[in-house]
Amino acid sequence: MEKMWAGRFEKSLDKTADDFNSSLSFDCKMYKQDILGSIAHATMLSACNVISENESQILIDGLESILSDIENGTLKFDTGAEDIHMFVEAELTKRVGDVGKKLHTARSRNDQVATDFKMYVKDELSSVKTLLLNLIKVVVEKAEENVETIMPGYTHLQRAQPISFAQHLLAYANMFKRDVSRIDDAYARMNYLPLGSSALAGTTYPINRNLTAEKLGFTSYTANSIDGVSDRDFAVDALSALSLIMTHLSRFSEEVILWTSWEFKFLELSDEFSTGSSIMPQKKNSDMAELVRGKTGRVYGDLMAMLTILKGLPLAYNKDMQEDKECVFDAFDTVKACLEVFAPMLATSKVLKENMLLASKKGFINATDCADYLTKKGVPFRTAYKITGTIVGDLIKQNKVLEDLTIEEFKAYSNVFESDVFEAIDLVTCVNKRNSQGGTGFSEVKKQRNDFKTFYQK
Ligand code: ARG
Repeated sequence: MEKMWAGRFEKSLDKTADDFNSSLSFDCKMYKQDILGSIAHATMLSACNVISENESQILIDGLESILSDIENGTLKFDTGAEDIHMFVEAELTKRVGDVGKKLHTARSRNDQVATDFKMYVKDELSSVKTLLLNLIKVVVEKAEENVETIMPGYTHLQRAQPISFAQHLLAYANMFKRDVSRIDDAYARMNYLPLGSSALAGTTYPINRNLTAEKLGFTSYTANSIDGVSDRDFAVDALSALSLIMTHLSRFSEEVILWTSWEFKFLELSDEFSTGSSIMPQKKNSDMAELVRGKTGRVYGDLMAMLTILKGLPLAYNKDMQEDKECVFDAFDTVKACLEVFAPMLATSKVLKENMLLASKKGFINATDCADYLTKKGVPFRTAYKITGTIVGDLIKQNKVLEDLTIEEFKAYSNVFESDVFEAIDLVTCVNKRNSQGGTGFSEVKKQRNDFKTFYQK
């Protein structure tokens, strides 16, 4: 296929170089954004009398027919084309004749690609946001069923204090909520149209960038033409938001993997979201969670690739920037796939409440409450801590827990102990009394859950 830029060349491009240069195999993903961008551009050109209304209509009709033919499968991408922009323009000229050659007036592929790519990133961010809101809903619904489910809370992966399982789940809901706000921030920051920056310096044609921006759903246009074509911060913003989503999914996945192990047995995944082993008949593996954990590395890699591509690039456009797309496409595809599998995996899982409670009864996770009990009766906290530590040390040797002591035995350590100590160290009391703002007490947890309900319904 003859290159659109063939004019000043005597020889055609070497085949290997041509293949190396071509981006169609991956940027064809942006066909829709490219065509919609061109339709807006053609509309603006006629509104500004750069082309006639009739010409604009011919271009728009041609572009619309290309879009529908790609979508219904009758038009295949010609692998000989250099990129999606060249492909669409060549196809347009094939369909509508010489008028097609007017589309690229007052435009360059530099502002065109920046626009298509930004539109793609915006669309994908919206899809990720929808998936995240759905996941938050699943997490909150699970929390709702588990306000009074007692489990050990951990620090250093050692049993620390009893908590409500809902409190633990809502910690993740908060992370995902911040992820949504990061998406919103990134979206708002990138919502400025590069088109009209032209190659790098703007154009002599009397264009109106406000018109194009409005038609394409941008807040406004990029303020500086050089920045307009050189900026890929928006891709980094998106990738960094995606990386943090994966961080959160990965931490959650790690817990799912632990909880579904025989050592914990806190959670059972439904058969639809677990796999077996080809050799060990007893196995039920949490492959989905492991894959999500594994794919996190991939998304971090995408972020690093993008940052490294941009590092040291002189202004304005450089062909290096063609390398910006695959990492972004990969990250979006990966994150969407992870969110799509994680939400139903969690929704269909079964919480093994009795095992959580059983685990809470071991490990002296009510020791803090025992010390607090003494403190509230006037014993200085450090002294109370030491008394409780001594009791725990003795009980470990006897393979007993605090609840096993009689009141007389308690009194042998301190005569401040009364029979109400049993109420104070009861696991349900321990959880429910932590009603400080944001704490694990049932009423605080319910308050958090209610706040979330209004959040994801927005
Ligand atoms: N395929 C190119 C890219 O993805 C489009 C822009 C080409 N611009 C240029 N001046 N060669 O970056």
